Amino acid sequence: MIWQVMFPRGADIWLCINPHATRVTQRTLDAHGVHAEIINTDFASGLQKRLVGMMDVIVVNPPYVLTLEEEVSCEGITASWAGGYNGRTVIDRILPVVDELLSDSGWLYMVTLTANNPSEICLLTRKRRFASCIFVQRSTEEKSLHVIKFWQEGVDDVKDGNITSSLGTWFGTK
Ligand SMILES: C[S@@+](CC[C@H](N)C(=O)[O-])C[C@H]1O[C@@H](n2cnc3c(N)ncnc32)[C@H](O)[C@@H]1O
Repeated sequence: MIWQVMFPRGADIWLCINPHATRVTQRTLDAHGVHAEIINTDFASGLQKRLVGMMDVIVVNPPYVLTLEEEVSCEGITASWAGGYNGRTVIDRILPVVDELLSDSGWLYMVTLTANNPSEICLLTRKRRFASCIFVQRSTEEKSLHVIKFWQEGVDDVKDGNITSSLGTWFGTK
């Protein structure tokens, strides 16, 4: 799934362009008795028209690997990693969509590589009225990953204990 969205009353949307990923995710959630709306679509398919300003938490693990542009968003498994030039093609398309979807007090958490130039991403989003910070950073011999957190500038960064805790577990900080 490219992203997961959570609403305050527990509604949950998961979205991916790959039909195999959506099928397997549905089966996994069913097996664990978890209810969520799974949508097999391109994230830029117009979802924002029905959900403008309604999303409270968006978690995005985009395809961030540096590849040829032709591989981006193509069918099958390649779409999982192909991020195009600088690994930024999908990331740069996601940001304006998120801009429309996020509620005033919403948060976006997005995974990037150092090679994607996270500082530049933060500067770009600043122009779109988003404050940001590098929330978690982890490096291995192969890659260095960051989770960037974004929120609307001027909005109090109220407690986000649950999401902080789950991302902490994911990145082994707990
Ligand atoms: C890096 S993988 C992340 C997979 C999963 N979230 C994880 O953490 O293992 C990126 C995901 O984005 C999906 N994806 C790529 N381009 C997309 C697009 N244009 N719209 C929706 N999903 C897309 C891929 O199919 C893949 O599932």
